[in-house]
Amino acid sequence: MRYVVDVSKKKARIDKNIYGHFSEHLGRCIYEGIYVGENSPIANIEGIRLDVLKALQDMKLPVLRWPGGCFADEYHWKDGIGPKESRKKMINTHWGGVVEDNSFGTHEFLRLCELIGCEPYITGNVGSGTVREMSEWVEYMTFDGLSPMAKLRESNHKAEPWKLKYFGIGNENWGCGGNMRPEYYSDLYRHFGTYVRNYGDNKIFKIACGPNSDDYNWTEVLMKNAASHMDALTLHYYTLPNDTWDDKGDATRFDEESYYKTLKKTLLMEELITKHSAIMDRYDAQKKIALFVDEWGTWYNVEEGTNPGFLFQQNTMRDALVAGINLNIFNKHADRVRMANIAQLVNVLQAVILTEGDKMLLTPTYHVFEMFAAHQDNELLDSYLASGCAGTDKTSIPDVVESASLDQQGNVIMTMCNADLQSSKTLEIELIDFIPNLLEGEFISGNMNAYNSFEVPTQVEKKKLEGITYSEGRIQVILPPCSVTKLIAKR
Ligand code: AHR
Repeated sequence: MRYVVDVSKKKARIDKNIYGHFSEHLGRCIYEGIYVGENSPIANIEGIRLDVLKALQDMKLPVLRWPGGCFADEYHWKDGIGPKESRKKMINTHWGGVVEDNSFGTHEFLRLCELIGCEPYITGNVGSGTVREMSEWVEYMTFDGLSPMAKLRESNHKAEPWKLKYFGIGNENWGCGGNMRPEYYSDLYRHFGTYVRNYGDNKIFKIACGPNSDDYNWTEVLMKNAASHMDALTLHYYTLPNDTWDDKGDATRFDEESYYKTLKKTLLMEELITKHSAIMDRYDAQKKIALFVDEWGTWYNVEEGTNPGFLFQQNTMRDALVAGINLNIFNKHADRVRMANIAQLVNVLQAVILTEGDKMLLTPTYHVFEMFAAHQDNELLDSYLASGCAGTDKTSIPDVVESASLDQQGNVIMTMCNADLQSSKTLEIELIDFIPNLLEGEFISGNMNAYNSFEVPTQVEKKKLEGITYSEGRIQVILPPCSVTKLIAKR
């Protein structure tokens, strides 16, 4: 299979934030998954689990979205500040009906980001909040000087303001965030956004709630009514194997037809980005406004015996393929897609980490993110792959999906997903304008439903790619069936 990468043709910068994540007050994502509290027997720093923290640092997590999701439009930030013993206890009505004790709030989230070394991305409450509440939150976090919110922050032992760049004005306001129509939301967006202020040299990047998958009218109306007020518009698209939310499909028990169907559905991301971008282009030809795919990933039926409101699911090689395919698609659209946040970080939906008590495991999706981190902030390169087809009679998809970039040291990074369950693929790679001095690679592969469990946490692991050859200007590599591979050609 011929694969050509033109190192002389740089197309766009791949924003590292494409490798972003999302953490909501949902199930065991924040509590247990990330935050166990200072008095927990699980090793922690200021209540944040050390094992999870290290894994996130190793994965080079660049940006983290919080507190939701649907939770964001029910969240009142003042409930989550001040002495923990006096913070309000309440029921998380949206997710599982469990007690939310607000022990993880603004300070804890921003500290988590500091420890990880990532940018925070906070979503404010439009659905059930007020303009004043949102405005004061930004003042609380970023105002340096004499003001009621700065004073309140100081009284909570934080004299210096934080730096905050990414702020979302509502979440899914077409659904759980208020069931609004785009005309109404675009006015509310302008209204709320007016009072999301820049204090000192802190410049807020304002993010408008964008469409649900193929709701092109939402994008059209938002761009028409509010483009001049926004820095980014979001897009949410989840991959479900089945066509119904009542029975989405199982995370680990599925057949080949369902495997290929899932990948076909995930490939719709390409069309969604292309079409929403085309609408955005009509109002913003210079692509100043970014498209943030700030919720994506697989969504299956919850694991048996778990709270249906917790959205806990296992994660197999199929999920690794979903992750790799989407990340390659985002890279290819780096001119418009400048952030993406897979849902969700730990223990919820397509998580990179699962925990059980003091145990933690890395899912196949984690390994994909770890490998693809090599693309962060690189230059996207022009590339072409003569892919074939994989699948069944009913469901046919391209067999190999790729993207390539040039890093700051001048090395070429190529990431390739072989979706074919039956055959390995031999790639003949031509690098135009580049002579490699060293070639190295790594990959994960396995049965389509292979996963890491607490009993066998390393069933799916990264392996070194052997047998890479180079002769007469051609690199040859073999991609195993059902695999995700990274190849680095070093200068
Ligand atoms: O990620 C789970 C939920 O999916 C989020 O809370 C919401 O934004 C979306 O519908």
